[in-house]
Amino acid sequence: MQTKLLTITNTANDEDVLNEAADLLREGHLVAIPTETVYGLAANALDPKASSAIYAAKGRPSDNPLIVHVSDISEIPPLVKHVPDALYKLAEAFWPGPMTVIMEKSDAVPDETSGGLDTVAIRMPSHPVAYEIIRRAGVPLAAPSANLSGSPSPTCAQHCIDDLTGRVDAIVDGGACEVGVESTVLTLCTTPPAILRPGAVTLEMLKEILPDITVDPGVFHHLSDDRKVVSPGMKYKHYSPKARVVLVRGEQAKFKKFISEQPGKFGVLCFTEDEPYVTQPYIVYGKQEDAASQAKHLFDALREVDKEQMKLVYVRVADDRGIGQAVYNRLLRAAGFEEIKL
Ligand code: TXA
Ligand code: MG
Repeated sequence: MQTKLLTITNTANDEDVLNEAADLLREGHLVAIPTETVYGLAANALDPKASSAIYAAKGRPSDNPLIVHVSDISEIPPLVKHVPDALYKLAEAFWPGPMTVIMEKSDAVPDETSGGLDTVAIRMPSHPVAYEIIRRAGVPLAAPSANLSGSPSPTCAQHCIDDLTGRVDAIVDGGACEVGVESTVLTLCTTPPAILRPGAVTLEMLKEILPDITVDPGVFHHLSDDRKVVSPGMKYKHYSPKARVVLVRGEQAKFKKFISEQPGKFGVLCFTEDEPYVTQPYIVYGKQEDAASQAKHLFDALREVDKEQMKLVYVRVADDRGIGQAVYNRLLRAAGFEEIKL
């Protein structure tokens, strides 16, 4: 398959590119599109064939459901059994934006999109290009992250080109993603509601609207394979470079001592503040006190680990409050839960 690269420079002037992407999607084709979180591999969510093609292009297990993206709240009622009151409050506070809400699905959502579950995950992205493409396509768009299954999520068009050239019809280049980690996923199908994947809409922010919301244990703990997972995505190894990734939690002086004592060759994933003393090959993924900057650079840094052919990498982890929870959750999965506390 030939993969066409469509470049957006200014949404107002790129009518042709936006319409071309929307036409492809309406006709059942696959198009990688930018969102504020990560790039998504989009297809018509109501077309079972188009949804199935997403799984094939990504090499994704077919029981891992897709997020359905809409451009307006009026597109939601046909997709769900009923719209919970909480949805309107959440939408008012955080949409368009990096939040995905799970509700009971209607028959309009095919099993291919919901991964065979009786629920559906819905999100309204804030990226102007995503918004314009969904609106012009005129159908809700299923879109998982536009990476090959198992590899780090794509935060710029080049990551999509590296993973999906020859596997999708088009890639829309809309620049680098602002947030850098995937949306917060929460379910309204449990009592109390629960966060299944942390993101830029944080626990603290959600508590303002849903005071009793909890964090599912699978977010920070390794769930044994026989335990029933609430979100199928939790059970798969994720975001993994080929290197062995080991998290190291501790203040700077302890981290400095730790890496100076490790034998053999290894790489380091660290913060800007660590640069002056690291003597090993290193990759910076943001600033120590700025979890948002870590979120923005994390996936690119994980991809860099493989490009540099590092075999073992020690990652300095710091704060896990706010969006730091999302960074820590992705790092735990990249590390297969291997963590040293200093
Ligand atoms: O920011 C994002 O959410 C990006 C952009 C493209 O919108 N999309 C994304 O999709 O990260 P994906 O497929 O890579 O991750 C979706 C996660 C998976 O872990 C999946 O298992 C979970 O959401 N999920 C989707 N539908 C679900 C459902 N009905 N019940 C439970 N978990 C669900
Ligand atoms: Mg993904």
